[in-house]
Amino acid sequence: MGQWTSAVGAAQLAQLLASQSAGATPGSRRPPAYRALADGVRLLVLEGRVPVAARLPAERELAAALATSRTTVASAYEALRSEGFLTSRRGAGSWTSVPAGNPLPTRGLDPLPPDAAESMIDLGCAALPAPEPWLTRSFQEALGSLAPYAHTHGDYPAGLPVLRRALADRYSARGVPTMPEQIMVTTGAMGAVAAICHLFVGRGERVTVEAPSYANVLQLMREAGARLVPVAMAGRLAGWDIAAWRQVMRDAAPSMAYVVADFHNPTGALAGEDQRRQLAAAARSAGTVLVVDETMADLALEPGLDMPRPVCSFDPAGSTVVTVGSASKAFWAGLRIGWVRAAPDVIRSLVAARAYTDLGSPVLEQLALLRLLENGGWDAALDARRLQVRDNRDCLVAALRRHVPDWEFTVPDGGLTLWARTGGLSGSRIAEAGERLGVRVPSGPRFGVDGAFEGFVRLPFTAGAALVETAAARLATAASIVAEGGPVGADMPAGLIA
Ligand SMILES: Cc1ncc(COP(=O)(O)O)c(C=O)c1O
Repeated sequence: MGQWTSAVGAAQLAQLLASQSAGATPGSRRPPAYRALADGVRLLVLEGRVPVAARLPAERELAAALATSRTTVASAYEALRSEGFLTSRRGAGSWTSVPAGNPLPTRGLDPLPPDAAESMIDLGCAALPAPEPWLTRSFQEALGSLAPYAHTHGDYPAGLPVLRRALADRYSARGVPTMPEQIMVTTGAMGAVAAICHLFVGRGERVTVEAPSYANVLQLMREAGARLVPVAMAGRLAGWDIAAWRQVMRDAAPSMAYVVADFHNPTGALAGEDQRRQLAAAARSAGTVLVVDETMADLALEPGLDMPRPVCSFDPAGSTVVTVGSASKAFWAGLRIGWVRAAPDVIRSLVAARAYTDLGSPVLEQLALLRLLENGGWDAALDARRLQVRDNRDCLVAALRRHVPDWEFTVPDGGLTLWARTGGLSGSRIAEAGERLGVRVPSGPRFGVDGAFEGFVRLPFTAGAALVETAAARLATAASIVAEGGPVGADMPAGLIA
């Protein structure tokens, strides 16, 4: 291999390796030092924290940075080479790689395509199948209203005017008067956040984020060149530490802040009304754009739960608070429809910038969403979805309590995710062992900045009783393999692979 895209220095690699053990106590049996080092590097590559094709430090330099022997590093590199995670050229150096046939790692979430479901229980994706019959009906009705659009070129960079109005009306009905000019329809919430980052975050600029936060958005911001400034969730990770937010906004003066105030992903926490008011006020005085991701907002699971006012009600004009919404969790991710609510001039700038990305969202999908909102299908489907998700959540909680009783978590009142502390074991190692046992879970560090949350995994409320029972049993086996210091990587017995 003559080409490499980046290099990781000895001190940097030592720091990354150290972050893997933070928050997780070692298992009862420790593997030999060279094996632990090889496993650590492999996990960093698999989680995308060390890029593929990055040059690793020379053995002597890494040995010095880790205060270990050169033989240990040489043996670790040899093990990585034989497992396909390292490629070396005599006299030139060593580069990270992944074995042929392995998917390339990412730092966001990489859910399996649905057709892989037979061999693997995928708990990587917090989204549910479409609620029927509402999906089919909405498309049938949408087809009936397509004809007038067929005579146009079909590019609506701000979204179909009728859908913008319907979405605006929903905010008005929630108590925040909104005009259609304050709405832009996007390709999912991710399309919305991407457009917002493009507009507000220059390379090297700061963005304040919750710690933990939604993995894909963190990665999107990293790739946009943002410097992420994490603010830890307070109260055993279940709330917003407003004093800390105020201080970070004041001291770091971030261009942008990103929060998921409604059933936060991954913790499921719900910000109270006063926290919302104060977050908006802190952003306004720091001159920071506060992006509020409401993707999970419709998924209140406890009957009678009193939902606080939307964060945008504390900045209805929408020049400080920019709200992101989506049909993905409340209805179906396959629609790929999201939206932004902001001040008309912010919307105009976002729309102008869209010319360089996707030009607009599909017309038929927008019409299907419109039909759902107009004919009551949205609300009916949502009622059914809430019941299903609550049932899934309760089954997951019961299965975890049975199979991994030492895992700790707070049961959220809404949303789609549970954030579990993995009994002092490394979440990354459990995730890796789980993958080989036929259950995929994303490990904690994907939701953190700089390797935080090693002692956690995220679990979604997407599977019913039978599946979560099997998944929890596999996770318990994975945890015991990790606790015993047994092989989790290439040496794991193939018989364990489901
Ligand atoms: C907080 C949050 N934002 C955005 C998304 C992605 O949404 P979409 O499918 O609309 O792009 C998710 C999906 O899990 C999410 O949890």
